[in-house]
Amino acid sequence: LFANLPEVPPDPILGIASACKADSFEGKVDLSIGAYRDENGKPWILPVVSKAEKILTSNPERNHEYLPMGGLPSFTSAAARIIFGSDSKELKNKQIYSIQGLSGTGSLFVGACFLYECYDRNKTIYISDPTWTNHRSVFGLAGFKVDVYTYWDSSLKTISFEKYISSIRDAPEGSVFILHACAHNPTGSDPTKEQWQIIANEMKAKKHFPFFDSAYQGFATGDLDNDAYAIRLFASMGFEMLVAQSFAKNMGLYGERLGCLHILCKDSNSATRSGKFLEKMSRNIVSSAPRYGAEIASIILNNDELLQEWKQCLVIMSSRILEMRKALVEKLVELKTPGDWTHITRQIGMFSFTGLNTEQSTTMIEKYHVYLTKNGRISVAGLNEKNIGYVASCIDKVVRS
Ligand code: LMR
Repeated sequence: LFANLPEVPPDPILGIASACKADSFEGKVDLSIGAYRDENGKPWILPVVSKAEKILTSNPERNHEYLPMGGLPSFTSAAARIIFGSDSKELKNKQIYSIQGLSGTGSLFVGACFLYECYDRNKTIYISDPTWTNHRSVFGLAGFKVDVYTYWDSSLKTISFEKYISSIRDAPEGSVFILHACAHNPTGSDPTKEQWQIIANEMKAKKHFPFFDSAYQGFATGDLDNDAYAIRLFASMGFEMLVAQSFAKNMGLYGERLGCLHILCKDSNSATRSGKFLEKMSRNIVSSAPRYGAEIASIILNNDELLQEWKQCLVIMSSRILEMRKALVEKLVELKTPGDWTHITRQIGMFSFTGLNTEQSTTMIEKYHVYLTKNGRISVAGLNEKNIGYVASCIDKVVRS
């Protein structure tokens, strides 16, 4: 039955990470996947997460029962405060309904299925060009036609703002736009506050539907509120919208698949009606959301002291990434590597879109054992004092060759 299925090419991100794991070269460097690494190149269990785990596992009332269809209420309500702000008018008015999702991807998929059933399956979904590779497949899998909006000017290494705005204007009225809430993946370049305002005005004029993907809250500026700026701006302007919120990176709970899907509607009646649909879809797709990560996050988010401690962890992670950005540029300047590398420090979040082309990226992998995605994206969190000199020297060599 399946003998003639086409071969599936390796995943553009996970495939590179697996190739790195399989490489026996001692000095290999993994800059592929967007996962935080500490100064020794190791995954970091946030100390606040360890504390919450202790609290959780020492609770005699604890069990492994199913969560309700919408997930753990004490987690989803706290997650909504983190993204919309604890003083959010829309939260107070019950215009927002939140359900637990399987991190970013699972939340996006439930949101996509909801739009297919309840909004308009003939609408086109617009994703940024470039974007995180899963965006196209998740919305395609849900049955939508997927197209791109212009985002990047690869020669200037900045957002191509005029073309971005033209894409919004040219899209048919009521299209769905997937927007990265902060720390755009892969470019590491976000619109300024002024640009967000213009984007929102233009989207409003065309009655487009925003679907925010927030995977890096706390990684762009180190501050949760700042990193939710765009979402809160759109909310304050009366948009109805969806938000997929991941806690994979900012709590370091990658494998626990912890996330939330929020729908913001014009009033509480529409929010409840939509929310019940979201719950039904989530029930059909995953039955019920995973419990462990949600309980850990709920302990942290509902305790003032632990919440502060989590915010400190975000500062630790985002500051180390900033230091590595600076150090990489300094090394490239020292080496007199041809070209201007200051975009690495202008970019923010987990990634730098280095500007290395596919051929150069492939050489970095095959010849030098430095693993990055083929579009030239590096996860800056994978750099540390021990490997940064080597990485800079490899970039220098591929640029010169
Ligand atoms: C990435 O872009 O590297 C991360 O979002 C991890 C993933 O699942 O692709």
